[in-house]
Amino acid sequence: MKRRALLKSLPALAGTALLPAAAQPAPLRRTIPASGERINAIGLGTWLTFDVGDQVVQRTRRQQVLQAFFAAGGGMIDSSPMYGRAERLLGELLPQVKHAGRLFSATKVWTAFGRIGPAQMTESLRLWGSGADGRVAGREPRRFDLMQVHNLLNWPEHLKTLRAWKDTGRFRYIGVTTSHGSRHDEMRRLLSSEPVDFMQITLNLADRSALPLIELAASRGVAVIVNRPFDGGLLFNRVGERPLPEAARETGCTGWAQACLKWILAHPAVTCAIPATTNPAHATENMGALLGPLPDAAQQRRIAAAFDAL
Ligand SMILES: NC(=O)c1ccc[n+]([C@@H]2O[C@H](COP(=O)([O-])OP(=O)(O)OC[C@H]3O[C@@H](n4cnc5c(N)ncnc54)[C@H](OP(=O)(O)O)[C@@H]3O)[C@@H](O)[C@H]2O)c1
Repeated sequence: MKRRALLKSLPALAGTALLPAAAQPAPLRRTIPASGERINAIGLGTWLTFDVGDQVVQRTRRQQVLQAFFAAGGGMIDSSPMYGRAERLLGELLPQVKHAGRLFSATKVWTAFGRIGPAQMTESLRLWGSGADGRVAGREPRRFDLMQVHNLLNWPEHLKTLRAWKDTGRFRYIGVTTSHGSRHDEMRRLLSSEPVDFMQITLNLADRSALPLIELAASRGVAVIVNRPFDGGLLFNRVGERPLPEAARETGCTGWAQACLKWILAHPAVTCAIPATTNPAHATENMGALLGPLPDAAQQRRIAAAFDAL
């Protein structure tokens, strides 16, 4: 009888046990059109912020940034051979970070010479995979999730190599990048003629010039990564101590960082924004923009108007 009573009560107990998990808000995820794979819509940039040498304090701080990022559901990390010691540091720190198995690794080829591309990408694979056991926290060490042509540099030659390497399984996706509102015409031509999986481009409250290209990418089935979401940090100088716009509060933003990120993510064609930081608390704050509602069209306009009025 005791056992039957216990069995009868199990569904109710299970329901209670599930409640806290069910009550957890789900982080915003976006679909990569080329595959249908879903990824969290905020990643982590590493330009300047991860160009760090052997100084223990600086390294520990970057490890804490990675820990905060993954603890909040992080996935995509974006780097480049252009970012100095960033790729090496990632390779050394990632194996020590909890949940880093969720990593979506994105880096770039950055050379004017097509024949140098393979050697550079091989070196990037070595650097990212240079953890204690040669693996990046449970991931295959010898491939990247995404390889991009940095700043469209010699893209006709590099894209040929990227496609060949993708065919052999060394990359899951390939893409191209630009930033700071530059080379949009070239990007438009490329999107119209070349099959790529990802485009990376700048979009933020101070620079909205890429919006038509982002629409074009979506219409071509190309995933969009947004770089410089804070205009390299200049946005914070501009907003200073100004109060948060009411429209940002309505969507649960706790500060301007989340308001900027939610304004970007409210564009449905954006797959992932990649803010960079040296500060673990900022990493947590930025990842917080994955939670709660996004601004609707009217709220987006009100946030942009409040920013323009500063
Ligand atoms: N062509 C390309 O492929 C290209 C070009 C540019 C950038 N990117 C990629 O995009 C990434 C992001 O762009 P970015 O690094 O230029 O600049 P960003 O992400 O727009 O801004 C970074 C700055 O914002 C500050 N910040 C971050 N979170 C903050 C918060 N919650 N509160 C206050 N300040 C905050 C950081 O300072 P703290 O350290 O104090 O947090 C840092 O100075 C790059 O790291 C790179 O991976 C790619």
